Amino acid sequence: MRCLIVADLHYSLPQYDWVVQEAPRYDLVILAGDHVDLSSAVDGRAQMVVLAKYLEVLKGKTRIVTVSGNHDLDSRDEQGEKTSRWMNELHTIGVPSDDGSIEIDGTLITLCRWWDGPLAQARLGEQLARDAQKPKQRWFWVHHAPCYDSPTSWSGSKSLGDKALLEWINTYRPDMVFSGHVHQSPFTKAGSWVDRVGTTWVFNVGQHPGVPPAHLVYDSEHYEIVWMSMAGIQSVKLDHPLVRPVPRLAMPPAWALENEVSATG
Ligand SMILES: [Fe+2]
Repeated sequence: MRCLIVADLHYSLPQYDWVVQEAPRYDLVILAGDHVDLSSAVDGRAQMVVLAKYLEVLKGKTRIVTVSGNHDLDSRDEQGEKTSRWMNELHTIGVPSDDGSIEIDGTLITLCRWWDGPLAQARLGEQLARDAQKPKQRWFWVHHAPCYDSPTSWSGSKSLGDKALLEWINTYRPDMVFSGHVHQSPFTKAGSWVDRVGTTWVFNVGQHPGVPPAHLVYDSEHYEIVWMSMAGIQSVKLDHPLVRPVPRLAMPPAWALENEVSATG
């Protein structure tokens, strides 16, 4: 299985166009939250209409999954907690999203919504407990906020990570957790796009303007994950210990260049 992982595209339509262009090369595209840009001059409702259309187009190119981020919250649920109603409705166009999970080739991928109150947090805890019981060879989570006390949530002066996520990781020990949210973590001193919490690999894709967006490429056959961004190319072998500083590569590994769509890809 080959996956492309992006996060925090924040209504950057050129970045969505790039993902649409690249998607056919991958078995799965993971969009790890924050589709909407709350600071945009474009009305939030209009953004959601356009973004849902992009997700529908993407779904026509390959398998996709997504989760909400804090920018995606657009209303309150029956209990008064903020929720992403427009993303709750993505199942009507066949896009797996918040509260869902999919299984591909023995890998279970749990899609964690942005929780903005104790009730949604408790429901996510129940979802993880249920998915823990499902048979699987590997378990991935997509959770917009990165975990607390990790370089992947380092703002440059403090951790902006999620303490509940850290507890859940310590309890369930998933294989990988894909996040975004703290845009600068991979680019700050003492920050990083990759970390290990016990045996779990955790990632923050990072965010910067321009095309291509910061992204991760994962290949299950090579058991390697590559981070590509304006800061260069780095990779970790998932069956090796994490070594810091993470080595920089002059070129992506050969497998990551297969079926390349364009020189900018
Ligand atoms: Fe964001």
